[in-house]
Amino acid sequence: MNEKIQLVKESFSNDLNLIVDMKTLNDVRVSYLGKKGKVTELSQMMKDIPNEDKKTFGMLLNEVRNYVTSEIENKKKALEEKALNEKLEKETIDITLPSKKVKRGSKHPMTRIEERFEDIFTSMGYTVYEGPEIESDENCFQKLNLPKGHAARDAQDTFYLKDEYENYLLRSQTSTAQVRAMEENEEKGPLRIVCPGKVYRRDEDATHSHQFMQIEGLVIDKDISMADLKGTLELFCKKILGEKTKVRFRPSYFPFTEPSVEVDVTCFKCGGKGCALCKQTGWIEVLGAGMVHPNVLEMSGYDSSKYQGFAFGTGMDRFAMFKYGITDIRTIYGNDIRFLEQFDRKDDE
Ligand code: PHE
Repeated sequence: MNEKIQLVKESFSNDLNLIVDMKTLNDVRVSYLGKKGKVTELSQMMKDIPNEDKKTFGMLLNEVRNYVTSEIENKKKALEEKALNEKLEKETIDITLPSKKVKRGSKHPMTRIEERFEDIFTSMGYTVYEGPEIESDENCFQKLNLPKGHAARDAQDTFYLKDEYENYLLRSQTSTAQVRAMEENEEKGPLRIVCPGKVYRRDEDATHSHQFMQIEGLVIDKDISMADLKGTLELFCKKILGEKTKVRFRPSYFPFTEPSVEVDVTCFKCGGKGCALCKQTGWIEVLGAGMVHPNVLEMSGYDSSKYQGFAFGTGMDRFAMFKYGITDIRTIYGNDIRFLEQFDRKDDE
């Protein structure tokens, strides 16, 4: 009996040489360890072995089974390694090939201009406060001294929500954020904020888009005067448009400020001499501003006999157009990559 085991072992040693790939490996494995394999057949003989020989037979059988299993495993590893080496050999990497260029993205011109505004105002001690784009009629108009039916609402016609939301609209100005900031301020004390964000109106031509970006500034404190407003806006205009910029204030009207002004700057193209951009006037209008109307302060819980404030607002798109020479506002929102890529290296200074 034991010779049989020896014979199986010898024949396996010979058959090992037949293994050249995964297929032959599998064939040999099945012919020894499979259901009808030679090793399996040997174990089936166990039941016919006389009891006194069972122990030796079992030991030898185990030995041969371990031998077969481990040799097959070794062969398998060797074959896998060989395959990997061959693959690595074939796949040489040519490090002299030029690399694929990674394209650098660029910031959207509106992001750049917004960051510039925020830099200037935060350096003057303002914090950035953002409000939602869907607003109540109350915050967008009523609490800014524009009750229902007020004529000045016409200039800010916007998009309104329907049904149970009919009191809501897409805000037409960032002044709404002022109302929120004043209401949230529990102490009803000083405030110094800028509120950038998207606003909406029923407009659409080369210089007006139904969606655009404003930034609002609000300062509330004791003893705030028009001189503070003027100094602040002069400094801001010089910082964003250049040191040579001159600023002038013209009387104007906004329901939420009194007195109200419109702010012009000397044309940055011709320096004030007169050109096509400034329509030969030398000046370009850039901001609306004024002293916060006492009604507005009172409606948001401020004591207007103790506190005053100034506010200003401007379209950031306009500044982006001036600064980057953009002639059609619609290109700003068109998402055409060929347009956006041009702002890759534009210096903001
Ligand atoms: N909200 C005004 C507008 O959109 C601008 C403005 C802001 C004017 C603050 C005065 C004070 O036209």
